[in-house]
Amino acid sequence: MITNEPTHTATVETVDTGIDQAMIGRLADALCQAVADTFSLYLKTLGTHWNVVGPNFYGIHKLTQKQYEDLNEALDELAERIRGLGYPVPAGFTEFRDISIIEVESAIKSSDEMLRALIADNEALAKRFREFSNVAADAQDKFTEDMLIGRIGAHEKNAWMLKAVLG
Ligand SMILES: [Fe+2]
Repeated sequence: MITNEPTHTATVETVDTGIDQAMIGRLADALCQAVADTFSLYLKTLGTHWNVVGPNFYGIHKLTQKQYEDLNEALDELAERIRGLGYPVPAGFTEFRDISIIEVESAIKSSDEMLRALIADNEALAKRFREFSNVAADAQDKFTEDMLIGRIGAHEKNAWMLKAVLG
């Protein structure tokens, strides 16, 4: 949920981007949610990579590795952008769980169930990152907007590839 009132406070390392501080605060909140979502999906994608079984094991194992590596890289870029904007980054399981829309369960499911969950999660994040990119657009933060738009494409591609595997 994106609110109009920023909940985070800027730190001293704030870069002068020329963007209105209140807008940056809203954007930092959106980016913190993006970090929590990306971390949660990273963890869930790893779970599938590790636990998948069946005739498509190798393909799913390799595909999910490519996806979790990309999520890990994106996570770092998103977090470092928050720091560049002068805000602290959440980095705890509890905070991630509280602000992410991705449910990460430890119970091992069937391979098809895990794939279906990852498809739904990637589709949900593509939509959510569209909202986040709109916050960046409102703040006229072109760099962050571009980064977030890139993530929409990444999540849509992930969903497509996982669907193709599922058949
Ligand atoms: Fe591995």
